[in-house]
Amino acid sequence: MTAMTKCPVAGGKIPVLDQDPFSPESLENPLPFQEALREAGPVAYPSKYGAYAIGRYEHMSQAVSNWQELTSGEGVGLLPPNRARGLLQMDPPEHDTPREVLQEILSARVLRSMKDNCMVRAEALFDELLDGVPSGGEVLVDGVQQIGAVFPVNFFPDASGIDPAGREKLVPYADHIFNSLGPRNELFEKGAGQAKELNEWATGKCQRDALAPECFGADIWAAADRGDILHEHAPLLTRSLLSAGMDTTVYGISGLMHALATNPEQYEALKANPGLARVAFGESLRVVSPVQQIFRVASTDVEIEGFIIPKGSRVLLSFQSANHDPRRWENPTKFDLNRDPSGHLAFGMGMHQCVGQHAARLQSACLLEVMLRRVATVELAGPVEYSHNNVLRGWGKVPLRFTLA
Ligand code: HEM
Repeated sequence: MTAMTKCPVAGGKIPVLDQDPFSPESLENPLPFQEALREAGPVAYPSKYGAYAIGRYEHMSQAVSNWQELTSGEGVGLLPPNRARGLLQMDPPEHDTPREVLQEILSARVLRSMKDNCMVRAEALFDELLDGVPSGGEVLVDGVQQIGAVFPVNFFPDASGIDPAGREKLVPYADHIFNSLGPRNELFEKGAGQAKELNEWATGKCQRDALAPECFGADIWAAADRGDILHEHAPLLTRSLLSAGMDTTVYGISGLMHALATNPEQYEALKANPGLARVAFGESLRVVSPVQQIFRVASTDVEIEGFIIPKGSRVLLSFQSANHDPRRWENPTKFDLNRDPSGHLAFGMGMHQCVGQHAARLQSACLLEVMLRRVATVELAGPVEYSHNNVLRGWGKVPLRFTLA
């Protein structure tokens, strides 16, 4: 199926891919498309969408750093955006100050200061999950519905200052935003009916008087009062946090649970050396990256190893493909705590690299700290289910069996 025909544009040199990265089959198992993309060459042309695509680690890391030629300001989806653009879809100089403001609000230092609060919540979650089970006893837990989808949905909106009413809307709200970055397929249509209502709801939650004091949202408004950012950017930036920070973390933590359950020897190694918790989260994000792919627009003819992506083209960047590139990672699909996963692209790289990564890391670190102490072994207790999204690798169910320490 790879490189069957000549590219109709770009001088006929770029390999064409017939596979559809957004078909239900590819969303159920994205690896065949991603392998075909990598092996086709430094650049390929998935013919169905008239867009280009990059999947090798070397060229992906150059592409995400090349914000001048591969831009975000015209949208990071397959189609131009039809709503107000948040930080993710801004180019410099518009991007500069809001980015600095968010980077400060979500810095490693600030997140470290939230560790005690996060630990209390992690303990409370495990208290509830393990309630009444004796040492050596077993309990069945869904790693998505009872851990991945529960923890960030409470911790993060509290930290952002969003009031508790209606929080169940946050995941579907972000789900549709990410689906909108793909084609207008069934997944998009499914969420379109509710989109306006959810959007208005989220915008309302991000207004100054709706936010709790001393939280990320209030910090953003304070930055507007200082004149660091425009007042009209404040609700938009707060909303950026809600859309970019929720489902990604839900799936990141769910993927971590899956990685631990399917690699018992690595769980043992982690218990023996809890200092590897940060490596474990990074490695699980590399193996299954919550943000699989995103687009850029070529602001000029972009040359990659002699191939030319014409100006104005949309370009699919496959983070997951790069994170599995055997040219960069030995035995790439293996979750292996002996490797150093730094340099993985699950949080992106360069100017748009995830500004919320410390928040995601803090949550995973607290959950792991408690789990390693209280859960002796973890294994899969049934088949996993995925939740399809055009951009995210979503988990529906990760059935786990915990044996208590
Ligand atoms: C950007 C992934 C959690 C807020 C990004 C990008 C990726 C990513 C790949 C870069 C996109 C690009 O290059 O176009 C993830 C993953 C997460 C996570 C895998 C969890 C495991 C969070 C959290 C927040 C957040 C918790 C909020 C606190 C953002 C924002 C941007 C971003 C605002 C845009 C940054 C910019 O354009 O300068 N994220 N993210 N993310 N992320 Fe995250």
